Amino acid sequence: DGKKSLFSGMQATGNLTLGNYLGALNNWLTLNEEYECFYCVVDLHSITVRQDPAELRKRARALLTLYIAAGLDPVKNCIYYQSHVSGHAELSWILNCFTYMGELNRMTQFKDKAAKHSDNINAGLFTYPVLMAADILLFQSDVVPVGVDQKQHLEITRDIAERFNSIYGDVFTIPEPYIGKVGAKIMSLQEPSKKMSKSDENVNASIYLMDDPDTVIRKFKRAVTDSDNQIIYSDDKPGIKNLIDIYSLTNNKTVEEVVKEFDGKGYGDFKMAVGEAVASVLKPIQTRVAELNKDKAYVDSIIKTNAEKANYYATKTLRKVQKKVGF
Ligand code: ADP
Ligand code: NA
Repeated sequence: DGKKSLFSGMQATGNLTLGNYLGALNNWLTLNEEYECFYCVVDLHSITVRQDPAELRKRARALLTLYIAAGLDPVKNCIYYQSHVSGHAELSWILNCFTYMGELNRMTQFKDKAAKHSDNINAGLFTYPVLMAADILLFQSDVVPVGVDQKQHLEITRDIAERFNSIYGDVFTIPEPYIGKVGAKIMSLQEPSKKMSKSDENVNASIYLMDDPDTVIRKFKRAVTDSDNQIIYSDDKPGIKNLIDIYSLTNNKTVEEVVKEFDGKGYGDFKMAVGEAVASVLKPIQTRVAELNKDKAYVDSIIKTNAEKANYYATKTLRKVQKKVGF
């Protein structure tokens, strides 16, 4: 139909956090009403860094399962593996021939990754942004939800698409960043000046979506706050501010309502309440994960059907591109 399309790629590295959920995933659940949504587990990107094959397969499956469990309807959203749609690799090759070394040399993420994986600075790591451009352009994506660290990659995607279009005519839709409703940025429970991140090495800094209730409550009890014991929403109190944000989002209450509810109460009570609220948001997700893990045939069929759907759209774009370049 005439819906605009939205693409998001996700790496199966690390475990999803409450930040990923409240800041991203939870806001995506109804986007399919407005957009044709593609959520791709980008396993081709993953092998730019050495992976244990069994582990990669397991984590990719766990991520896809968690997305479904968190409420992304796998019939209304195309949730699939990149490696199941060969168009990603094929378009990536073509786009490589329309991307300059100089452009790729300017990518800050390559420099960071090269420094981190200095024993394996492979060509895939260097051309990673071209594969990402292919991911997005393959679905004629109109919008892409991107974090700050991915802005540069969306820019190069637009540059490559514009370059290609200027030579061959209107082939690709030029994607825009998706500006969703402003979700709160969830901060680390141990260093509230930093965002909560799945790559944080301190496991107490993040709530993972698969954390059990005891773990969730323990982590909130240990959350770094301040010593004045007053529940006030202020930049001077980043730890408490973060907990108020979390409580407000998980209870669908405004910040003012939360502050009023805990007026005169101490941090101990408040942390307990936040922990319980978060545990109860995670519980149905975890129950659903367990159900999905038992129903292997169902998940397999979702994976297969969605790969077919993604292939359908991908092939349409790819044929168009192949013809333009002379294949
Ligand atoms: P991470 O730092 O956990 O690896 P990513 O950079 O992969 O997260 O981001 C995945 C998605 O989750 C993005 O849409 C990003 O904006 C969102 N996100 C990540 N961390 C947070 C956070 N702490 N608060 C709100 N949203 C977040
Ligand atoms: Na589109």
